[in-house]
Amino acid sequence: MKHKIILDCDPGHDDAIAILLAAHHPEIDLLAITTVAGNQSVEKTTRNALKICTLANIRHVPIAMGMERPLVRPARHAADIHGESGLDGPHIPEPDIALSPMHGVDLLIQLLLASEGDITLVPTGPLTNIASAIKLEPAIVPKIKAISLMGGAIGVGNINESSEFNIWADPEAAAIVFNCGCPITMVPLEVTHQALATPEIVARLRAAQQPVATFAADLLVFFAETYHHVFGFEAPPVHDPCAVAAVIDPSIIQGKLMHVAIETVSELSAGRTVCDIYGTSGKPPQVRVGYALAVERFWEMVISTLLSYS
Ligand code: RIB
Ligand code: CA
Repeated sequence: MKHKIILDCDPGHDDAIAILLAAHHPEIDLLAITTVAGNQSVEKTTRNALKICTLANIRHVPIAMGMERPLVRPARHAADIHGESGLDGPHIPEPDIALSPMHGVDLLIQLLLASEGDITLVPTGPLTNIASAIKLEPAIVPKIKAISLMGGAIGVGNINESSEFNIWADPEAAAIVFNCGCPITMVPLEVTHQALATPEIVARLRAAQQPVATFAADLLVFFAETYHHVFGFEAPPVHDPCAVAAVIDPSIIQGKLMHVAIETVSELSAGRTVCDIYGTSGKPPQVRVGYALAVERFWEMVISTLLSYS
């Protein structure tokens, strides 16, 4: 039985790889792509989703634009990593896919309410759309099978010492989602920093001499340049496909159930995922927090799927 998912994303170089994985993996039924402000404005992340799906000939998946700014804070983007377009690097043809006329939040609500409760949400950007859908229509909560999200950190953040970008960008939204009561798998930086797109990985993609694999390789070359410039990484961590991989094969990530709280008050650490690793808080554990990735299996899954595009 395929896993039905909705990918909520802010493309974004690593979101692009997550889209390509989710749209073509044989065990995933990608019901929709919803976009959100994050790496860039929602106009740009949406345009990027349309361009990625045009290039890869992904035409069976509705794409709907979501929230243009966080619930209460101003929008803050990541142009230093993803560029002014949000998908700088390779030339990508103009999109020829029509955007859904529905708002992304409305599409999330419609699909979830109409479902048998068998849809997994896979957010790979700020959680603004998911939180907005829950606020607008709380009846969706029991309809969400599970949430597999890329975000947070057990320890050090990336946007600052405390916080990971997706949670930092909209802490209030994250607090709503983490407390909604659905089964949540959190794929934090400790996992995604093991998913490094090394030159060997890029070479394997390029060797196939196939357009989608070459596109992914070109994206990763740009991503490597910015990640090296900003963080000094020798190879970029491809964060977002890890959240898709965790749906396809939960054993690809080692995790532990624990309570996770979201800091929304502190100026110093707003957006921190406060992970109760030792259970000392006395609060009920509600999140499976990943801490290790089966790296070889992850790349086999990603590369084999990217090579499956004709
Ligand atoms: O911190 C990494 C996350 O922030 C990834 O989802 C990346 O695409 C950016 O959105
Ligand atoms: Ca993202």
